[in-house]
This record gives sequence, C-alpha cells and structure tokens, in this order.
Amino acid sequence: MSRYQSSRGGDSRGSYGSKSSISNELSAVKWSSYKLTPFEKNFYKESPEVANRSKADVEEFLAKHQITIASRDRCPNPITQFKEAGLKSAIMDVIHKNGFTAPTPIQAQGWPIALSGKDMVGVAQTGSGKTLAFGIPGLVHIAAQDYLSPGDGPIGLVLCPTRELAQQVMKVMDEFARAVNLRISCVYGGAPKGQQIRELERGCEIVVATPGRLIDLLNMQKINLRRCTYLVLDEADRMLDMGFEPQIRTIVSQIRPDRQTVMWSATWPKEVQGLARDFMKDPIQINVGSQTLSANHNICQIVDVITDYEKYDKLQRLITEIMSYGKTKTIIFTDTKRCADDITRQMRRSGWPTVSIHGDKKQEEREWVLNEFRTGNSPILVATDVAARGIDISDIKFVINYDYPSSVEDYIHRIGRTARANGTGTSYTFFTQSNSKNAKALIDILREANQNVPAELEKMSHSWQENARDRYSNKRFRGGGGDRGGDRNKRPRMDNGSSNGAPAAQKTGNEFYSSVAQAGYTSSYY
Ligand SMILES: Nc1ncnc2c1ncn2[C@@H]1O[C@H](COP(=O)(O)OP(=O)(O)OP(=O)(O)O)[C@@H](O)[C@H]1O
Ligand SMILES: [Mg+2]
Repeated sequence: MSRYQSSRGGDSRGSYGSKSSISNELSAVKWSSYKLTPFEKNFYKESPEVANRSKADVEEFLAKHQITIASRDRCPNPITQFKEAGLKSAIMDVIHKNGFTAPTPIQAQGWPIALSGKDMVGVAQTGSGKTLAFGIPGLVHIAAQDYLSPGDGPIGLVLCPTRELAQQVMKVMDEFARAVNLRISCVYGGAPKGQQIRELERGCEIVVATPGRLIDLLNMQKINLRRCTYLVLDEADRMLDMGFEPQIRTIVSQIRPDRQTVMWSATWPKEVQGLARDFMKDPIQINVGSQTLSANHNICQIVDVITDYEKYDKLQRLITEIMSYGKTKTIIFTDTKRCADDITRQMRRSGWPTVSIHGDKKQEEREWVLNEFRTGNSPILVATDVAARGIDISDIKFVINYDYPSSVEDYIHRIGRTARANGTGTSYTFFTQSNSKNAKALIDILREANQNVPAELEKMSHSWQENARDRYSNKRFRGGGGDRGGDRNKRPRMDNGSSNGAPAAQKTGNEFYSSVAQAGYTSSYY
C-alpha cells in the first residue's frame, strides 16, 4: 500500500469516508513562472433560432422551468431543443439512441454557458440530468484541443465524492466519448492501482476521479494535470465541505489557472459558496427550481414521527407492504455502518432479499452489491450516505430514512435516489425526538414541495425553538451555562407520540401506511 493511500471508511456518519489522512508532497505549481500555451474554450455558436428568439419567449421559457440566473447580462439565452446546441452528429446520435427528446432545463441553460467556456455553478434538482449538463460540453471542449502527446495527462477532469459515483459518471460519459473517439478512464480508491495506471499510460483525454486516489497517483507521478483545461466538480458542495476541501485545493493547485471550472449539485449551501469562488473566475450561477433549498417535487415525502424502539417494527411493516406489490427497488438509509449491518442481518433473517453498502466493505463487494441492486436480484439496499449522492438507478421507487441524516442537504440527496428523470417515487422518513433540531429545516422542505407536514413534527419544531430561545435567554441573563438551569416547565415535552398516550403515534402510523396508497402505489403502476 502506498504510504499516501487514503484511509477511507472510518467516519462515524458511515458516509463517504473519513477526513482524509492523505499526506502529499505536491507543492502548488507556480503558474506565473510558466509560459502557458494558449487554448480555446469558447465553442458556442448561438443558432439563429436562439439568437432570434424574442425576449418575451426567452422569459417565458425561463419562468416555465423556474430557471434563475445570477449575472444575467453575461448569460447566453437558453436553448429549447437539442439541435440548437450545435453538437456533432455523432453526439446527437447517442442522444437519440438514449431516447432523449429534449434537453432538461439544466441542460437547456447550462450548455450555452458551459459551451461558451465560462465558469459556472449549476444547481438543479436530483435526477435532472446534470451529468450530461457538464459531460457534453466537456467532450466538445476536449475534442477541440490538440491531440495528447505521450506522457500528457487528461484534458478534462471530473471529481466526484464517491467511487460508485465516479464509475457511474465514467459510464455515462463513455458512451458519448467513444462516439467522438475520446478515451476516458476512472481512478478511485479501494481498487488496485496497477490497472488504473496502465490505462492512464495508454493515454486518456478524460479522467473521472475520487480525490484521494488522484492525489496518490499525482504523488507517484503516474498522472499529471498540465494539459487539464476543463475541470468539473460534481456534487460540488460535498466536494468543498470539510472532508474534501484540502484535497480539492491540492488538486486544483496542479491545474492551470485559466482553465474552465464548472460545479454542479442539487444543493448549494451558503457555507461553500464563498469557497467555490476561490476556484472559479466570474462564474455564472444558474438555479433550476426554487431559489431556496428544495427537494424534487416528483417525490411524495412522508415523515413519521416515532421512537427509536418503534423503528424496526415499522420498517418490517413498510417493507411487507412495499414488497407485496412485487420486487420494488427500495433503499434504506442508516446513519452508521453498524446499523446498516444490523438491519441487513435482521432483514435477511426475515427472508427479505437485502444487500448493504457502506465504507467498511471492500470495493469489490461494494461494486457487486450495487450491481445486485441495480439488476434487481436484491431489490432492497441498506446503505449509509456512501450511496446518498448521484447514484442513478431509474427504477428505485422507495427511499426509507431509517435514521434521519445529519443535514437537510443530505436528506434531499438521499430521497433524490428515487424519481429520476421524469419518474416519480416515495420517501419515508423516521423522525425521532433526537432529530428535533432538524425539524424546522425539514418542515421548510416539505412545505416548499407542498407535502403534508405531520402535526407531531410541527410540535417538535416549536418545542425545539422555544427551548432554544430559553437557552439563549438563560445564557444572556445567567452568564452562560447552557440550558442546565432552564425553567423546567418551559422545556419541551419529550413528545414522541407516546407522552400523551398512544393516539398520536397511532395516528401517525395509520397516516403513514395509508399513504402508501395515497402515493399512488398500486400494482398496476409498478
Ligand atoms: N435530456 C434528457 N432527457 C431525458 N432524460 C435524461 C436527459 N438527460 C439525462 N437524462 C436521464 O436522467 C437521469 C438522471 O440524470 P443524472 O444522473 O445526470 O441526474 P443528476 O441531476 O446528476 O442527479 P443527482 O443530483 O442525483 O446527481 C439519467 O438516467 C439520465 O439518463
Ligand atoms: Mg449527478
């Protein structure tokens, strides 16, 4: 094992892996001392249809698809049809082969910006086609550059937070890359380096990578980024959060500063927005959908306020109901790897075809498990957040949050594993007293998507806020001390549905299960 190898998979969230323990010897390149070969990054020729479209028509299109643009004066008009993007026929053929009839809104507005060579941030709901929103302009950019010489690194680099997502992005782009004779390879941790190095040595114009392995290979001088001029951060907010930011800085320091940088996600929290500007020049930001944080509206979101003790029984009942309609793909998210293992074991004991994925599993097994789930051999997948982002399996119909995630952004990404493209799906979330600090944020998401907000959740949110006010005033007037000295009468009741007898829990439960039917879950539909 290389001494630079990352040690992933040890974090308590059971998510993408521990904060990196990667050390690296890469020093930032002093780009100012290099004479950089100029390159072209604007490949966009606005079609006459787009150029001549009236302002009113453009406004109508933007409004219809809820597209908002920051720096509007620098933003080209959206396209409305594939033919307006000016793509090569080889690429158009693959688009048609996939059965796509029109660009999705993020593609319609994202392509003209990305094809123009501008830096951008594209924020659009889960399952809305962001991969091709960056993938196709990337291929156009890369195909137009000089051929690679021996020893050259890739021209396009896509960074992803998980190995499975990196593999998926490579697969999606590969179909298009082949059509224009470009080679793509994927470097990610957990798999032997030899094969990845051999592929890199053969030369490839595009690399999709997880940061840890890429840094390993950079340190080993098995790859260099001197030719890289198109940089993508998929799941950009995740890539810029605490776990990955140092690695992203290291990688970006190896790429020429006049590159094009594009970032994509379904969520764009304030905490990363400033940081993102460090990596881009005058970016144009587009948002599809609500300007506030929002979930995909094609998901029926059901929240059940329960106690921890009730969780497993409720899960059993729910799975029984779901599976009574046939082998319906369902993901169950847990917070920890241990919980994922426990549930998987219990589910199997009860006879459910269940597999699980998390950061402690060997990469080989992770890939096998995802494949079993994808093909439907095992229609139930228990997962930590390692599967929360980006994974695109078209027929996942249910997402169950056995544990509520640590942030509302994670909630949006997790439930977004269903209702891909124009599909629909249902999410069930178990919400307990210990999650009450997240109740308000969850209510906001439910309201934005016109979903039912359970009374118990509202109550919890009010109690939490009241309590927070008490804590604040105690701090101010007593000089700190948290809530320990708080007025007990004002403290929130431990309202988990059982404090005032069975009815509350019972009602929630009934609502919960009858909502399977409400969600349009009928055997004819599935
Ligand atoms: N123009 C299109 N028309 C119809 N379907 C499309 C189009 N573009 C992409 N898709 C399909 O939409 C699905 C979702 O795409 P993709 O995985 O890129 O979503 P995403 O926006 O990246 O979602 P997430 O935020 O979860 O990562 C894919 O199965 C893809 O094939
Ligand atoms: Mg994606």
